[in-house]
Amino acid sequence: MRVSVIGCGYLGAVHASSMALLGHDVVGIDTDAAKVELLAAGEAPFFEPGLPEALREGVASGRLRFSPNIADAAGAQLHFLCVGTPQQRGSYAADLTYVDAAVTGLLPHLADGDVLVGKSTVPVGTAARIAEQVAARAPGAVVAWNPEFLREGHAVNDTIHPDRFVYGLPAEPAAADHARAALDEVYATPLAEGIPKVVADYATAELVKVAANSFLATKISFINAMAELCEATGADVVALADAIGYDDRIGRKFLGAGLGFGGGCLPKDIRAFMARAGELGVDQALSFLREVDAINMRRRVRMVDLAREVCGGSVAGRTVAVLGAAFKPSSDDVRDSPALNVAAQLQLQGAHVRVTDPAAIANAERAWPTLAFAATPEEAAAGADVVLLATEWAQYRQLDPVTFGDVVAARRMIDGRNVLDPAAWRAAGWTYRAAGRP
Ligand code: UGA
Repeated sequence: MRVSVIGCGYLGAVHASSMALLGHDVVGIDTDAAKVELLAAGEAPFFEPGLPEALREGVASGRLRFSPNIADAAGAQLHFLCVGTPQQRGSYAADLTYVDAAVTGLLPHLADGDVLVGKSTVPVGTAARIAEQVAARAPGAVVAWNPEFLREGHAVNDTIHPDRFVYGLPAEPAAADHARAALDEVYATPLAEGIPKVVADYATAELVKVAANSFLATKISFINAMAELCEATGADVVALADAIGYDDRIGRKFLGAGLGFGGGCLPKDIRAFMARAGELGVDQALSFLREVDAINMRRRVRMVDLAREVCGGSVAGRTVAVLGAAFKPSSDDVRDSPALNVAAQLQLQGAHVRVTDPAAIANAERAWPTLAFAATPEEAAAGADVVLLATEWAQYRQLDPVTFGDVVAARRMIDGRNVLDPAAWRAAGWTYRAAGRP
């Protein structure tokens, strides 16, 4: 099929490359000419395992093109809307500037039978509003909402082999059939694997996305709340998570206690969801998300407190190494990164902070130019009074406590992700501390 992908950020660049992998003829559109140039050369503008290969293959095959000009979307049968919906400045609500600009730009190029497929995470009600605009300006085109559930670090695989497809279709039966058939055709290969498909209306499809992210955020904050209880009682949150996780109804995934969630999705999505619920007059239904957010933010403060504690009450003048800058491993994304938040708090309290990360140093330096950065854990930790493991990259999980102990000034480790073996680190003479563990 001929498809366009409007917006080539994280979601769009991955979606465009993945659609080309599935054999479609794809044009990716982005207003950022420099990004278009990179993508057109087959180069990924951010770190994502598997994306460079997918891009190169797509571009080399001639099935994947990029353009800064939205007019080049004309002629595609499906137009995937993949622009960002960040948090508004000074508000919890989502900023729909990019969505509105993309739709306005695309409207003159929509032909009869085209399907505009929304993938961006939007406040419920947005698809219906866009459908009205399309009905007024391009009445032969149809709008569908098809939210994306990809995780950074697994994005290409999640796009091609998702857990499920969700189609939000218009109420009018002929339009719904047309959109459904177009989506079935574009996703024919993964659908043939038996991946489940949920067909619903616009509002349900929009809500599925934010409900899923809210559930994940709640699960993480639940275990972090248990970590607070464990700290007050001397219990061990990791053993607790293992034990409750054996119950199939609960499951062990997303019960990783520690520094909590960050990134460009969970924090802003739960806030935008609360803001939208307020507009709809049902804010009480989501008031628990305020608590989820608050528990999550307390984890960052707790990490800083632990660092102060092991340093004898103050970090002023102490050298602190922070392992990790990305909001999670296998990513160079530092948006709302808990690791950098903690690093910055420690610096503000007078510590000499050195941050390292295998992929995210360039982005971290741009976001926090006043922090110091080092290329390796050993360089970051040279002469350190305390080391904080903030992002659980494989190379940090595998550090040898004996040899790593030789580079620091004092063997103090704060494991912000509960991924190290406390016994091994203590046996090597380290003071080992972690949130929610004795
Ligand atoms: C999240 C969702 O998992 C995706 O399904 C969704 O499509 C995406 O948002 C989105 O809306 O675009 P992502 O932000 O890539 O994906 O990252 P996650 O793997 O969900 O991790 C989010 C944060 O939670 C990270 O900071 C991670 O360190 C933290 N986390 C995760 C924990 O603190 N504990 C856990 O047990 C799991």
